[in-house]
Amino acid sequence: MEAQTGPAKKGDDINNRFIFWSLTAVFFAYSGYVWTLGTAAPQSAMATDQVKHGQQIYQQSNCTACHQFYGLGGYMGPDLTNVVSSKGAAYARAFLINGTERMPDFGFNDEEMDDLVAFLEFVDTMGTYQAPSYQLSWYGTVIALDE
Ligand code: HEC
Repeated sequence: MEAQTGPAKKGDDINNRFIFWSLTAVFFAYSGYVWTLGTAAPQSAMATDQVKHGQQIYQQSNCTACHQFYGLGGYMGPDLTNVVSSKGAAYARAFLINGTERMPDFGFNDEEMDDLVAFLEFVDTMGTYQAPSYQLSWYGTVIALDE
């Protein structure tokens, strides 16, 4: 093979221009394509006012102190990511009505409980969380177990 030295030849110029304009055309074509896709979120991803209010109550009441979403939060109570689909809205609501020995009774009114349950339902539609099953080795590291 011949090593290229000296000034660029005419053929190289044409080649570079061809590559430049091809890439430019691809860039605009792809940008146009992405633009036509729009930014509308699927309906299920839109939080209603009720859901937003439920989230507000969830935050103000500091439910996260004891509960988790996707395994993140406090660990006194169970993970709530999929509580509605696995155990039902009525079941979740039952805990809000009176609390339990370990969960406080927040004294919510009916509307507040509806909004909280709507929020939990909304979170549930976002994904599923399964606590990973694992074993601890004798020296304290985690060994993941496939189910
Ligand atoms: C002081 C800790 C604490 C706080 C704060 C708390 N919880 Fe709980 N919650 C618990 C415990 C513990 C349980 C499990 C039942 C039991 O052992 O009494 C529970 C159970 C639940 C359950 C049933 C879950 C299941 O899978 O059985 C739901 C739903 C729930 N809580 C919702 C909430 C919501 C919503 C809030 C905030 C308004 C909240 N909790 C605040 C401690 C708490």
